[in-house]
Amino acid sequence: MDYKKRVLVTGGAGFIGSHLVRLLINSYPNYLIVNFDKLTYAGNLENLKDIESAPNYVFQKGDIVSADDVKSVFDSYQITDVIHLAAESHVDRSIEGPMDFVMTNVVGTVNLLQIAKDAWKEGEHVFHHVSTDEVYGSLGEEGLFTEKTPYDPRSPYSASKASSDHFVSAFYHTYGLPIKMSNCSNNYGSHHFPEKLIPLMIHNIQNNKPLPVYGKGENIRDWLWVEDHVKAIDTIFHKGRIGESYNIGGLNEWTNIELVHFLCRLMDKKLNRTAGESEKLITFVTDRKGHDLRYAIDASKLEKELNWKPSITFEEGLELTVDWYLKNTEWVEKITSGSYQQYYTQMYDNR
Ligand code: NAD
Ligand code: TYD
Repeated sequence: MDYKKRVLVTGGAGFIGSHLVRLLINSYPNYLIVNFDKLTYAGNLENLKDIESAPNYVFQKGDIVSADDVKSVFDSYQITDVIHLAAESHVDRSIEGPMDFVMTNVVGTVNLLQIAKDAWKEGEHVFHHVSTDEVYGSLGEEGLFTEKTPYDPRSPYSASKASSDHFVSAFYHTYGLPIKMSNCSNNYGSHHFPEKLIPLMIHNIQNNKPLPVYGKGENIRDWLWVEDHVKAIDTIFHKGRIGESYNIGGLNEWTNIELVHFLCRLMDKKLNRTAGESEKLITFVTDRKGHDLRYAIDASKLEKELNWKPSITFEEGLELTVDWYLKNTEWVEKITSGSYQQYYTQMYDNR
C-alpha cells in the first residue's frame, strides 16, 4: 500500500507510547505506524495486543542509541515522520543511576535527530519530540509554567530531558530540521508501570501493602488523563507550527497526600471495604532527594492556537483507571513478579 506517511513512534510499547500507537493506527489507516522500542523493563508488547495485527502497524525491536538500529528502521520503512517518546522516564531510578538516562534520553535523541536530518533531504517531514514539564524545575506556591519559562531541571531525569529538548531546538535552528516539541504534566491511566505514584498506590491498596508517601505528601503535581495527552500530541503533530513548543496540562493540581486519600476512598468502595480501611495503610517515608515541590502548567497556547482541552475530569479518569487495574490483574501480576520485586525492595525497604 502507498501510505501517506510512514511514522516512526519510538517508545511505542511504553505507557504513553502504546496509547499513542493505538490512536494513530485507528485514526489514520492511510499511515504506516512503525513502533520502534528496545523493550526495557518499561516496554511491554502486551500493551498493544488488541492492535498488533492491524494492517498499518509494524513493531521493530531496537535501541535509539544504536546508529545501525535506527538507520536500518529508517531505510526499511522509508520513514517520513518521527514521534519520539522513547526514554528512561522514572525520577527515582534516575537518582539511583543517571547514566542510562544520559544514554537513552540524550545520546539516543541526538542519534535519532542526526539520522532524520541525513534521511530527510527533501519533502515534508515532522520530528515531534515528546517531553516533560519537569524541565522547567520546581514552582513555589504561585505561578504556572509557560513555554517561555526558563529551563531549570533539578533531577537527573529532568536534566536529561532538558538536554534532549535543547538538542531538538539546536537541530531546528542549525540545520532547519522540521521539529515540534511538547512538554506535558504528569500522566495517569491504564497500562501505567506500577513504579509511578498512581499505579503503585492502586496496586498496594489492592494488596493491603503500606502506601509509601514521600516526606509529608505536600508536593503538588498537575495530573492529565493519558488519552488527553495523546490527543494533544496528535493535534500538535498535525497542526502545530514547525519550530514551536507547546505545553500540555490539566489545570488539575493535587498534593500527593490528597490524591492518595482520594484513591483510598475510591478503592474502599470498589473493593467493598469499610470506609477508612485503606487509609490506614498510608505510611510517610523518607523524602525523595531534591524532591521538586510543585509542577503546574499553563496550556493556554495549545488551547487557543489548536483548540485542545482535556476531555474528562480527574475524578472520572481515576475511576476508569482503578477499574482498569482491577480488571487487568494478570497484566499487573506479570509486571510485578520478577525484577519488580527487587526494585521495590531496593527503593522501599527500610526507607
Ligand atoms: P515509559 O517508561 O512507560 O516508556 C518508555 C518506553 O521507551 C518503553 O517502552 C521502553 O522500552 C522504551 N525505551 C527506553 N529506552 C529505549 C531505547 N534506548 N531505545 C528504544 N526504546 C527505549 O515512559 P512514558 O511514561 O510512556 O513516557 C514516554 C515519554 O513521555 C518519555 O519521553 C517521557 O519523558 C515523556 N513524558 C512522560 C510523562 C509521564 O507522566 N509519564 C509526562 C510527560 C512526558
Ligand atoms: P512520580 O509518579 O514518580 O512522578 P514524578 O516524580 O515524575 O512527578 O511521583 C509523583 C509524586 O508522587 C512525586 O511528588 C513523588 C511522589 N511519590 C510518593 O510520594 N511515593 C511513591 O512511592 C512514588 C513513586 C512517588
